[in-house]
Amino acid sequence: MKFLATLFLISFFTACNTNPSDKYLAIAENTENTDTKIIQEHPGKKLMENNCYVCHNPKTAEDAMIAPPMVAVKMHYTSEGTSKEEFISAMVEWAKNPSEEKSKMPGAVKKFGLMPYQFYPEETIVQIADYMFDNEIEEPEWFDAHYKQMHGDRPRMKGKMGRGMGSGKGMGKNQEANAQPTLKERGMQMAQTTKAELGKNLMGQIQKNGVIAALDFCNVQALPITDSMATVHKAYIKRVTDKPRNPKNKANTAELQYLDNFKKQVAAGGEVDPIIVKMGVETEFYYPIVTNSMCLKCHGTPGKELETLTLSKIQELYPTDKATGYGENEVRGIWSIRFEN
Ligand code: HEC
Ligand code: HEC
Repeated sequence: MKFLATLFLISFFTACNTNPSDKYLAIAENTENTDTKIIQEHPGKKLMENNCYVCHNPKTAEDAMIAPPMVAVKMHYTSEGTSKEEFISAMVEWAKNPSEEKSKMPGAVKKFGLMPYQFYPEETIVQIADYMFDNEIEEPEWFDAHYKQMHGDRPRMKGKMGRGMGSGKGMGKNQEANAQPTLKERGMQMAQTTKAELGKNLMGQIQKNGVIAALDFCNVQALPITDSMATVHKAYIKRVTDKPRNPKNKANTAELQYLDNFKKQVAAGGEVDPIIVKMGVETEFYYPIVTNSMCLKCHGTPGKELETLTLSKIQELYPTDKATGYGENEVRGIWSIRFEN
């Protein structure tokens, strides 16, 4: 069990301050003592970087973006008159249920496809929006030129400007641009992009051809899509579970242990951290795969969300299927990813 000794759970912010009247600054300088600077980070900044930057990352090259940069999202959600409360509630509403009708960025929906739904605790989105509203969001180097070309002059935005904010760590754009993504960030990116790829294809199939046809699609395509994302990322990427539909996706002993761990965390609500295990030159990354209402069409309770016709097709394709009876926000399985450091 040597690897267990080297297992670390990176923990960040298990203790979110939930008092909404608390104000955070990205960097707060202690003016009483000019020698020491107390740096207090707004919890929304990390939450945004961990949850949203997998797709909305300002460091991604323009042609490699899979979603608009966060600064563009902020622009479309604020105008001169927008209050902080309005901004926060619009973000919360969006995250709860992204839909074409609600979109303020139809161009982005057309270009990237609709943002895939993912469960986030409401407090997470509130913190992220609170941070976004009050602070300048890092923008990609290509953004200014892109914006002028697409929309003309830039509107004024709320939020402090980066200049004159002191010499705090991590604020300088160049300093940040040179930072290597952490192992955790790399793992998250792989998990999220693979999930987005699978999710996009799955949703498209259900919308176009119905649940039964989508089943055939999953049956034939789920593993190849996962493998092709693994090739893109130069990594091993698996989705494994304690209750497999496809026996090839059965979790091993170590994975079962992580899965149990995640089940407890998800049931308790709140943020879940990935598990990172360093093994010499390689890193193992584990992160839960959590259900939403759409999943229940094929993984829900037979006779309820899971229709009889769908069930019989599932049993035909997977005679040993165990992957039914799930509710929303339950751990369906985990990402098990291995990559070179
Ligand atoms: C898996 C990729 C992915 C992740 C993760 C993600 N987004 Fe998005 N998001 C997108 C895409 C793609 C779009 C553009 C299409 C659209 O607007 O639906 C988008 C658009 C948006 C929009 C604009 C919606 C509109 O059209 O009016 C908001 C607001 C937003 N994201 C917020 C967030 C927040 C907050 C997070 C983190 C908690 C987040 N997103 C995480 C992919 C993602
Ligand atoms: C249209 C039906 C359908 C829907 C909807 C669906 N799945 Fe599945 N799911 C399948 C099939 C079929 C497999 C087996 C794929 C294979 O053969 O590799 C599967 C496999 C999986 C696996 C791999 C482990 C296993 O049991 O083989 C996970 C994890 C999973 N699904 C999670 C989800 C989640 C989370 C959602 C919702 C976001 C979802 N699924 C929605 C049909 C579906």
